[in-house]
Amino acid sequence: MMKAASSLLAPIAKRLDGKVAVITGGASGIGEATAKLFVKHGAKVVIADVQDELGHSLSQEIGSESVVSFVHCDVSKDEDVKRVVDSAVSKHGKLDIMFSNAGIAGNMDPSIASVGYEDLKKVFEVNVFGAFFCAKHASRVMVPAKKGSILFTASVAASTAGAPHGYTSTKHAVVGLAKNLCVELGRHGIRVNCISPHAVYTPLLRASMGVTKEVVVRLIEDSGNLKGVGLEAEDVAAAAVYLGSDESRYVSGLNLLVDGGYTTTNPAMQLTLEKILSGA
Ligand SMILES: NC(=O)c1ccc[n+]([C@@H]2O[C@H](COP(=O)([O-])OP(=O)(O)OC[C@H]3O[C@@H](n4cnc5c(N)ncnc54)[C@H](O)[C@@H]3O)[C@@H](O)[C@H]2O)c1
Repeated sequence: MMKAASSLLAPIAKRLDGKVAVITGGASGIGEATAKLFVKHGAKVVIADVQDELGHSLSQEIGSESVVSFVHCDVSKDEDVKRVVDSAVSKHGKLDIMFSNAGIAGNMDPSIASVGYEDLKKVFEVNVFGAFFCAKHASRVMVPAKKGSILFTASVAASTAGAPHGYTSTKHAVVGLAKNLCVELGRHGIRVNCISPHAVYTPLLRASMGVTKEVVVRLIEDSGNLKGVGLEAEDVAAAAVYLGSDESRYVSGLNLLVDGGYTTTNPAMQLTLEKILSGA
């Protein structure tokens, strides 16, 4: 029996009271769950996404215009990210949390032979250039304030094999960027961290893998180390609340794996031995 993440949405102390956050890719999946949880914790949120209709309707659903708003933003465009950061500052007077979360899967063909220039360019533009622009414009307003928290959604793909080469390379790049930034921006009191989730059944995963939620749940349950707990977008959002809040005030340069220990231990030898001994 899977334990649900819904308990994370129970009444709680407001851990982000007074904070202002931008969430890119905030209209769907992990970003959507994070926008909801941030608002529950007292943050003011600007949802930045390319899906205008979804972004507007989500922001109206979550709270009043003074608490949550939507700004069209293609993270692969420097000027769009500048506009969303400026909009957060002009509306709320500051920016405390930049959650650079927007991402795409890119070409899902696992073979290096299938790599094409346009596919590769697109996935790097969104996943990597987008992360650079988010950090650049967030730091522009956080450095004078001498504080702030910049978060990136990387992936277990930055630690283990399994995803296509293009996507995997972008997520390694994001972890590398976060670690380097932690040094430069740490001098100004700004913390920089990554969150690396295992598979969560979002529109991105559904479209890229083309399988049902049941298949993904079974895949993760069978291949993972932590049994009986399914990963949901709300679990990733909870990690973002922690890293965005002052509870993590001395945590920087971390790649927080939300994966039930999947990447930190390798059970392959033990499982193979069990298989050999059982004669399978
Ligand atoms: N779902 C998973 O299994 C999983 C696992 C590890 C990491 N991630 C990462 O989590 C992040 C969020 O993905 P998700 O699973 O919630 O998918 P999702 O598709 O539900 O959400 C991604 C959002 O990003 C937006 N987006 C795409 N391109 C954009 C652009 N150029 N500018 C602005 N917004 C853009 C989409 O419109 C969408 O709303 C991504 O960075 C993804 O790589 C997902």
